[in-house]
Amino acid sequence: MYHCQICTHEIEPFISFGRMPIANGFLMPDQFSQEYFYNLIVGFCPECKMVQLLEFVDREKMFHEQYAFFSSTSSFMARHFGMFAEKVIQGFLAKVRDPFVVEIGSNDGILLENFSKRNIRHLGIEPSANVAEAAIRKGVKSICAFFDENIARQIVSESGHADAIIAANVMCHIPYLHSVAKGIKLLLKSGGIFIFEDPYLGDIVEKVAYDQIYDEHAFYFSLQSIHYLFSQYDLEVIHTELYNVHGGSMRYYISHKGSHAPSSSVMTQIDKENMLGLHQRKTYELFRKSVEKSKDQLKQLLLNLKNEKRRVVGYAATSKSTTVTNYCGITPDLLEYMSDTTPIKQGKYSPGAHIPVRPYEEFKANYPDYALLFGWNHAEEIMAKENEFCDNSGKWIVYVPKVKIIG
Ligand code: SAH
Ligand code: TMP
Ligand code: ZN
Repeated sequence: MYHCQICTHEIEPFISFGRMPIANGFLMPDQFSQEYFYNLIVGFCPECKMVQLLEFVDREKMFHEQYAFFSSTSSFMARHFGMFAEKVIQGFLAKVRDPFVVEIGSNDGILLENFSKRNIRHLGIEPSANVAEAAIRKGVKSICAFFDENIARQIVSESGHADAIIAANVMCHIPYLHSVAKGIKLLLKSGGIFIFEDPYLGDIVEKVAYDQIYDEHAFYFSLQSIHYLFSQYDLEVIHTELYNVHGGSMRYYISHKGSHAPSSSVMTQIDKENMLGLHQRKTYELFRKSVEKSKDQLKQLLLNLKNEKRRVVGYAATSKSTTVTNYCGITPDLLEYMSDTTPIKQGKYSPGAHIPVRPYEEFKANYPDYALLFGWNHAEEIMAKENEFCDNSGKWIVYVPKVKIIG
């Protein structure tokens, strides 16, 4: 029996992907025999409406000094975070004397560097030592720690309360959200603002983007579930915005209750969620059926291409690709290799499926017939720079929102 991490109500799973390895656990052949696996199962809480994993991986197994995801590999995201910072500064810090900004999950400093360059007092909380060091080298003040209420207390005693707390693609990574919410409550100045964004459940459901589901993503947020969590701490969602990053993300603006007037976006979004059925279990049953169909179609397509003796490679060894390769049974005989620009992944093998990860240069030097776009959330950025691949009769295989060939 499983219980909700947010409200303790009993929950039942609606989809199981079976045994899965760590999504970012790229490894060498001598590590294959000790590879760690867990059960990837997702459930919906009928009480607080939170969609969540039912089994969690220990955080130290995922976030450590060899963490494979460096945020700054995407120039598109760097621009996105530049605009995020600008909004925070113009909207919330312009009139504050000596403002203080804290970021949770600051990685290699992609967002905070926009504050450090302007000499705005800031602090990043980042548990993965290698990416935190990359941030420090850029001049971004960072501490290597997991954010929770104890760290929040420590920050208040050392640096005072925060005018803005920001977080991107990390809140959904943290199973102990009650401790995080208590930490926000403690750390946020009265009149301050907490702004965070994460992949949005509405987009995941609508686009059948099941590859957003993996060990690091403990939660799949909707406005309703976020409202439920923070209202327990007298914190209030005052505004929401949708962004076309990471396959569709929601940015939530949260303040101490009563300190900012809520905008109409909040009610509008709740209405949209009800129309989409995010508050109903049957929506997730339908989602499961669509996921199973997508899996069968992708596997069949790759088998057909193999029979036709076509060369197929994966483009971008994303964390999401681990769910796809393992769930769909994509083995090295169906996919020659995965190309990726991140040095720490190159020369290693993909988690579970053990497909070789090769430098991007190899892709450019000898184009395959087909590239399976695991980095579909970066499609705009990637396709813009791969005209030559298409000019060489290269074709893309995409699977979100539907399995199809482009080109
Ligand atoms: N904010 C960046 C990085 C997202 S990846 C971006 O949007 O690109 C998630 C990051 O959160 C990782 O760097 C991971 O080490 C970090 N993280 C995981 N758990 C955390 C926690 N409890 N507190 C702070 N950071 C955490
Ligand atoms: P993510 O989808 O988990 O954010 O991971 C992105 C991965 O994609 C990261 O390993 C870098 C890789 N990548 C490329 O190889 N080429 C690209 O052009 C982009 C944008 C990303
Ligand atoms: Zn619940």
